Amino acid sequence: MTANTAVNQTDKNSPTTIYLKDYLPPAFLIEKTHLTFQLDPEKTTVTSVLQCVANPKAAPSQSLTLHGQDLKLVRLQLNNKALTAADYCVEEESLTIHAVPDAFTLTCVTEISPATNSSLEGLYKSRTMYCTQCEAEGFRKITYYLDRPDVLSEFTTTVIGDKQQFPVLLSNGNLVASEQLENGFHSATWHDPFKKPAYLFALVAGDLQVVEDNFITCSGRNVVLKIFVEPKDLDKCEHAMASLKNAMKWDEEVYGREYDLDIFMIVAVDDFNMGAMENKGLNIFNTSCVLANPKTTTDAGFARVEGVVAHEYFHNWSGNRVTCRDWFQLSLKEGFTVFRDEEFSSDMGSRTVKRVEDVNVMRTLQFAEDGGPMAHPVQPASFMEISNFYTLTIYEKGAEVVRMYHTLLGPELFRQGSDLYFERHDGEAATIEDFTAAMAEVSGRDFSQFKYWYSQAGTPVVKAEGDYCAQAKTFSLTFEQYCPDTPEAKGSDKKPYHIPVNVSLLGKAGLLPLTLDSQAQPQTEVVLELTEAQQTFVFNDVQEEPVPSLFRGFSAPVKSAYPYKKADLLRITTQDSDGFARFDAMQQLAVVAIFDVMAALRKQEEWQLEPLLLNAVKELLTNEALDPAMVALMCTLPSQAYMSGLATPIEVELIHQARNAVKAAIAEQCFDLWLAVYNRCLSTKAYAFNANDVALRSLKKVALEYLMVKPTEEVLALCVKQFNNADNMTDESAAMSALVDCTAPLAAKERVDALAQFYERWKDEALVVNLWLSVQAADSTPGALKRVEALLKHPAYDSANPNKIRSVVSVFCNQNAVNFHAIDGSGYVFLADQILVLNKQNPQIASRLLGPLTKWQKYDVNRQGLMREQLLRIQSEPALSKDVYEVVAKSL
Ligand code: ARG
Ligand code: ZN
Repeated sequence: MTANTAVNQTDKNSPTTIYLKDYLPPAFLIEKTHLTFQLDPEKTTVTSVLQCVANPKAAPSQSLTLHGQDLKLVRLQLNNKALTAADYCVEEESLTIHAVPDAFTLTCVTEISPATNSSLEGLYKSRTMYCTQCEAEGFRKITYYLDRPDVLSEFTTTVIGDKQQFPVLLSNGNLVASEQLENGFHSATWHDPFKKPAYLFALVAGDLQVVEDNFITCSGRNVVLKIFVEPKDLDKCEHAMASLKNAMKWDEEVYGREYDLDIFMIVAVDDFNMGAMENKGLNIFNTSCVLANPKTTTDAGFARVEGVVAHEYFHNWSGNRVTCRDWFQLSLKEGFTVFRDEEFSSDMGSRTVKRVEDVNVMRTLQFAEDGGPMAHPVQPASFMEISNFYTLTIYEKGAEVVRMYHTLLGPELFRQGSDLYFERHDGEAATIEDFTAAMAEVSGRDFSQFKYWYSQAGTPVVKAEGDYCAQAKTFSLTFEQYCPDTPEAKGSDKKPYHIPVNVSLLGKAGLLPLTLDSQAQPQTEVVLELTEAQQTFVFNDVQEEPVPSLFRGFSAPVKSAYPYKKADLLRITTQDSDGFARFDAMQQLAVVAIFDVMAALRKQEEWQLEPLLLNAVKELLTNEALDPAMVALMCTLPSQAYMSGLATPIEVELIHQARNAVKAAIAEQCFDLWLAVYNRCLSTKAYAFNANDVALRSLKKVALEYLMVKPTEEVLALCVKQFNNADNMTDESAAMSALVDCTAPLAAKERVDALAQFYERWKDEALVVNLWLSVQAADSTPGALKRVEALLKHPAYDSANPNKIRSVVSVFCNQNAVNFHAIDGSGYVFLADQILVLNKQNPQIASRLLGPLTKWQKYDVNRQGLMREQLLRIQSEPALSKDVYEVVAKSL
């Protein structure tokens, strides 16, 4: 079965564009939904009984049109009357009943085939288990329905299945009945008392094991917590359970949000398109986002589980209790919930490290999206396929926008705004405007200009200049902002943004007290509010010429520029009280150093490592008082992807060479320091996931990376020892990566051995195998495509499993620039081949893989031609899914 309805381009039926401005409330509401599933691999019967009423808030309608896709209609009944073909009309994606009264019960029986549903949307089979994914529009692959988020219904679900095959039968809400049936079948009936849209529906059936715990809420209610996994994963649930309890407590304390049902369930599924899904009371997770065990999971994995478990839990309020009116409001729940999970993770671990990681994602990935052909506003104005809009812009930029309210209002008013929003819209489907209105109301502030953050795409550029007057003792900061062209609007037509700029002034001995014209009380940090295209702010009583520290904490998602001298940057790296600002200044120093080497290499000249950068690194490595996590972050060079975002055309090889050259120079000139740091980070304590231990392991990893650029026998032995003796996956995989990345002949044998041994050790652990696959897919030494093609044939690979596809294909195309962008175009052909296969099998994944090809305009003319050629080849495919069609059409 093809996953999505194919788009035929030879006719004019290219997919329709849906516009926010066309929103109309639904003509009917579904007050109650009763579903019965009779599970069977290729012929699952779904009986739905819908209590429908005309929507008093909509224009009256005689006919009812329901969404439906890939369904076999078996029977239709209106109240007590069986409907015949003349009463209704079935189309490719809908069912229309010609005449319906104002209130009626519709009974509908359909058949679906979960075993052959490879799209992983709707009801599908993952290994031995049946599960659902309904967001955004997957419910229509289960039964005919008003599959839109503003139709909220009370669901009762009965699941019937073979007891031996499916001892566990789950759906949303509370279990209200279970029955033993004939022929070894049994049934379970679940009732969800909270009205919800169909996208939050879930069903799971399988032979699952459960880990159980409980949580007492702030009002003293007991909530049963259950994590369901396949038996193989029973040893990997502890961290998710602890994270869940922490998240429940945090949401009570920080947002005043209590959980509402008596049970909260999580199910881990191997085949999943995204990270996880917040279905009411029954969250479904990609195994990669819920399972963790020190032996098999890295620190990054632990952090991801903590963040995603919290994210999905937080959706219970920001998403479920208050949901979205339509999919143009997606960031209302996603941006807000990402902001909430980011803050939660900051409170659980290191705030600065978390901020640096999140900003790196913004700057490398979201900025690239915002500067490419798929750029869209946080509240898009139109789409063809909503699945294409689960983007970094909706999620991460959306979270930055919520963070700016927090910055502008301060924590107390922000909390009042959030309380008002939840209270006012509980049980409703809301809009982004509703959220803004709540924030405006509690603060008395005017957010009319702030709204451009939602309606305009693109990353604003803010240029600042400072001017110190020694006589008057004033320092004036002048800002200029503009936003480049994006597909929906010319830059010159865009309105200036309302931008909070967190500012401090650094003197020779630290932060200076600040006095603005408008402020009496001196402080050391202020939030300037930039609202004009050009604007000047004057600080008084500035006793020495300062170095301004701007956009501290990344106070707005902009590209900022200030004409710093290298020595100014150095001052920020050592003197600033804001960890993010210190990191940022160090990164700017490194960028300058890499650009200098690129310039020299271009002219085939000699070059020397920027001495200020070298000194800064030496200082970081010798000062034992510093937070090891900060040292690790600040000594990590900007990634290839980050450098690629800074100038066009992207000089793929030159960036790679220059970056490696700078790294090698630092490695060589600080070898002894790195060795001392490495030894300092060794620990004999048992693994624990906490900020201090994570920090030490992260610095140890960076030290090992530098040491292994040109290892001595001694260093090589240390690395192999770490690889063999580590009691946790963070250290073990760091050593493996260091060996794989090492091109020194000395380590040739160890490199090969490590990969072989690692696979032998971990071949039965799917998530560890994914790590092994991705380390190889990212290996930038020549011949990567051949190796990747071999991996696709390896028994560990599974071409239907999104995690495997991501580990090999995505990693190769996104994290192995020199090989993916090979000048013969072979990387592009490879990717297009993969996309064409997945287009039929799993359109969502196919569409996501297009990312790197869509950025073709950023490369040299030769590569542009080769990349375009592959996009055109994909476009000429006769049966393109909507998902792939939209992205290709917009990219060309
Ligand atoms: N709401 C989910 C989350 O962010 C994402 C699910 C999206 N799934 C999809 N197939 N588009 O937590
Ligand atoms: Zn989410």
